Amino acid sequence: MAPMTNQKDRVLIFDTTLRDGEQSPGATMTHDEKLEIAEMLDDMGVDIIEAGFPIASEGDFAAVSDIAKRSKNSVICGLARAKPGDIERAFEAVKHANLPRIHTFIGTSPQHRAIPNLDMDQMAEVIHTTVSHARNLCDNIQWSPMDATRTEDDYLCRVVEIAIKAGATTINIPDTVGYTAPAESADLIRMLLERVPGADEITFATHCHNDLGMATANALAAVDAGARQIECTINGLGERAGNTALEEVVMAIKVRNDIMPYETGIDSRQIMNLSRKVAAVSGFPVQYNKAIVGKNAFAHESGIHQDGMLKSADTFEIMRPEDIGLSETSIVMGKHSGRAALRSKLENLGFDLGDNQLKDVFVRFKELADRKKEVFDDDLIALMNVSTANPSREPMELSSLSVVCGTEGPQSADLAMRFDDEIKSVKATGDGPVDAVFNAIKSLFPHDARLQLYQVHAVTEGTDAQATVSVRLEENGKIVTGQSSDTDTVVASAKAYIAALNNLLVRRTKSAPDA
Ligand code: KIV
Ligand code: ZN
Repeated sequence: MAPMTNQKDRVLIFDTTLRDGEQSPGATMTHDEKLEIAEMLDDMGVDIIEAGFPIASEGDFAAVSDIAKRSKNSVICGLARAKPGDIERAFEAVKHANLPRIHTFIGTSPQHRAIPNLDMDQMAEVIHTTVSHARNLCDNIQWSPMDATRTEDDYLCRVVEIAIKAGATTINIPDTVGYTAPAESADLIRMLLERVPGADEITFATHCHNDLGMATANALAAVDAGARQIECTINGLGERAGNTALEEVVMAIKVRNDIMPYETGIDSRQIMNLSRKVAAVSGFPVQYNKAIVGKNAFAHESGIHQDGMLKSADTFEIMRPEDIGLSETSIVMGKHSGRAALRSKLENLGFDLGDNQLKDVFVRFKELADRKKEVFDDDLIALMNVSTANPSREPMELSSLSVVCGTEGPQSADLAMRFDDEIKSVKATGDGPVDAVFNAIKSLFPHDARLQLYQVHAVTEGTDAQATVSVRLEENGKIVTGQSSDTDTVVASAKAYIAALNNLLVRRTKSAPDA
């Protein structure tokens, strides 16, 4: 890990998928999922992982603390408001990391100063006190003037200087509401570097939201002006329209190094695997035409393009699929494929499995291959994404299901579920087969959770394609998701709903409120 000073050409990558990304309504991840993603980010070469907001809940604290204990090369950062209790809690959570960091922030724009009802002088005093307090606990301190891009220039320079003098080692300049434009983003960093005493001693970071679709451009413009840390998330996950996407800034710097002569420590070949993982656990699928990681990002559909590609890949391709970890071939697997072939194929797709995990996945693969003649890469990825949580170890599981549907309603479902060691069954009707199935589940496990999202997408083409179903539920402000894949859309729906309910049971046991 490079030292945290301004460097000419190294740009630090700060990933906030587990904090800002997880703040997207419904993107809640379980403890184990957060640990797994943090490990993947560390292995990929992310310099700083913002692991969560420790004061927000016991669950957030436990996740940040466990991520810190298992961290290898990445700095582990915990977020804290400008309050002594937040800062102490953040330090408690990150202190076991090899490289801990506290990130404290306060809203400095007129709009944000009005909320705690502080005048400029009072807020300046709070900044001095809280950054000094954090620095007394930890040597690595990041401070953010939230809504910096709508803060008056003179006041921004004044508070940044105070934070530097109080011991901040990184100053992050957030475009909290996604309002700025590239030229402005660059001017702001340039102004701070020119006007603030001590600015050359610390690292400036850029943190952009994507409300106007300019987050990546704004982040790169800030780097051009002297920022040396980019804050970003996998797949651009984040509040509202999301944050700068990690894969976009990393690949932009790599592909256009002629005009952006910087380097990051990221192994870009791990991007695709992380993208799939984050999409699966957050329940936010990646749009097909998303830059870098979208399903169509490397697809060449038109005849002219295909012809050009066959003659020479660089006719239409500015980067190679392998550079982001997409396997070159789509070798099809089938029911005669053995365990060794499956292991090698999964390794190719970026999944490294232990023997027990492989055994479990192989059973599911065989079940799928029995129903589906050809098993494509996307089928295996869907299989991997749902098989990380083994349903037989969950409190509830689908045991059997048959539905009657067609033009003569009402549609009905005969459904049996396992509750720990007991099997219960019921018959229910509904407006369509999925509605009948959800009614059956609801009558076996009564609950008040509201269905916020029901989404189906076909994993591959063809009428025997698997369907991946995502279900999002909300109960008393707590949001959970469940996902499942099956060649039978109705079965996938039942399993996804039950997976969401299992996650809801976990969430119910967490007593502390969310941030
Ligand atoms: O967008 C923002 O301002 C933030 C801060 C907490 C840095 O996420
Ligand atoms: Zn943010």
